[in-house]
Amino acid sequence: MSKIVIEPVTRIEGHLKIETVVEGGVVKEARSSGNLFRGLELILRGRDPRDAQIIAQRICGVCPQSHGVAAALSLDSALGISDKIPNNARIIRNLIQGAHVAQDHVLHFYHLAALDYVDVTDVAKYEGKDSALNSVKDFIARGELGPFVPRYEGDYRLPPEVNQQAVAHYIDALEIRRLGHEMVSMFSGKIPHSVGIVPGGVTATPTVDMITSFLWKLRRLQDFINNVYIPDVLAVASAYPDYCEIGVGCRNLLSYGAYDLEGDKPDYTVRKRLFSQGVTSADLKPGKLDISKVTESVKHSWYEGSSSGKHPAQGETKPEYGKDGAYSWVKAPRYDGKVYEVGPLARVAVTYAYGDPTMKKLVDWALAELKAPPSALFSVMGRHLARALSAKFIADNLEKWLLELKPGEPTFIEYTIPEEGTGAGLTEGSRGALGHWIEIKNCKIANYQCVVPTTWNASPRDDNGNPGPMEQAITGTKVKDKNNPFEIVRIVRSFDPCLACAIH
Ligand code: FE2
Ligand code: NI
Repeated sequence: MSKIVIEPVTRIEGHLKIETVVEGGVVKEARSSGNLFRGLELILRGRDPRDAQIIAQRICGVCPQSHGVAAALSLDSALGISDKIPNNARIIRNLIQGAHVAQDHVLHFYHLAALDYVDVTDVAKYEGKDSALNSVKDFIARGELGPFVPRYEGDYRLPPEVNQQAVAHYIDALEIRRLGHEMVSMFSGKIPHSVGIVPGGVTATPTVDMITSFLWKLRRLQDFINNVYIPDVLAVASAYPDYCEIGVGCRNLLSYGAYDLEGDKPDYTVRKRLFSQGVTSADLKPGKLDISKVTESVKHSWYEGSSSGKHPAQGETKPEYGKDGAYSWVKAPRYDGKVYEVGPLARVAVTYAYGDPTMKKLVDWALAELKAPPSALFSVMGRHLARALSAKFIADNLEKWLLELKPGEPTFIEYTIPEEGTGAGLTEGSRGALGHWIEIKNCKIANYQCVVPTTWNASPRDDNGNPGPMEQAITGTKVKDKNNPFEIVRIVRSFDPCLACAIH
């Protein structure tokens, strides 16, 4: 019996430790610990409710737009105006969040995950004229290979020319991210933390110029997703077919649905959304989501035990560092008492399960390209593939929404802050199901609770001792070389964890 401890896990957002017990080369037990407390939920208490979407975005510099939208949705419902948001505003929120998420998926694959599979040192043999690759080649010659090293060694399988091409795409992806950020800031004011998303709508008013400029950038983003990102994911998955079986996890998937396609129903859970809301599992059958069944356990988290098992609307954040039996600042959200994975895989699978024809075509096509069965979705490569398909599904719809904007029509509605009120904002961040719950008393925020995608995925054991989704995905994995535990970091990174968000 031996231990593998990875701390910190690099090339993710935030502070994560993974501890495993390995016996006979197989992981018998895994623990995921988020080890930096934040306290944004506490900072929000006692403030003017209109501060919520500004402060909540500070939970994360990677995922702020999704927090902005979740906060605005929760405020809209607490203010009683969720069914009165002008169409232009609903669409602009979709454009901001969609452009953000699509570029964030590109960021994850190229700048965070791909280096687990792509051997940058092959660029030393590069003979072509690409100036970016030649400068990487110069760096290699001078022995200056950061940020690509240090890294694990011994399992890079792509042929040299594919490696070189992938490094060129790593550099191209930086430009695509800049473009995505420009698209976001066009309607949101600035990034990372958008000032343009507000309760009641958005601050931007669309003009023909903005629409044309957004469209031009969007076309380049779509071109990259279709002709570079998706083919690269398929190429990596083909070279690492064992990773279509490694990292399966709990196989329960949950999506809140996202990108409102209509705005006249006050209840977000019955609204038509681009991504469906619901649950599914290995059979890929659709299941209805009952939001009242979401709870957060803290038995193994550093919070007072009295707050365990509560629905987020009544949730509490009472830190108790060093508590017996606890090993993480991440709480353990559960649905109907069971462990659920969230993320692009979940929202793609739930949308597929609900029979969306475009999503069905996309997923079936991708699986056929890989010659893989639907069960391969529940794996490291399945998560990467679902993320790329999520990017395409969003980007292809951005164009449609953009052309539905009506310059000159309103993007904002007036409101008054009520003495008392409650609201919930449910959406899908890049990394999965995101919920914000607000309680207003005496015109101030009395309680604010966030249950964030990585809170689900990186959660520790719950009150019943069930390990979280990432812990389950790691357990049972064969580790070939304990000094280079590729398998573990590849599984963790396939979830695209964001620990700043998870602990908030
Ligand atoms: Fe929270
Ligand atoms: Ni984040």
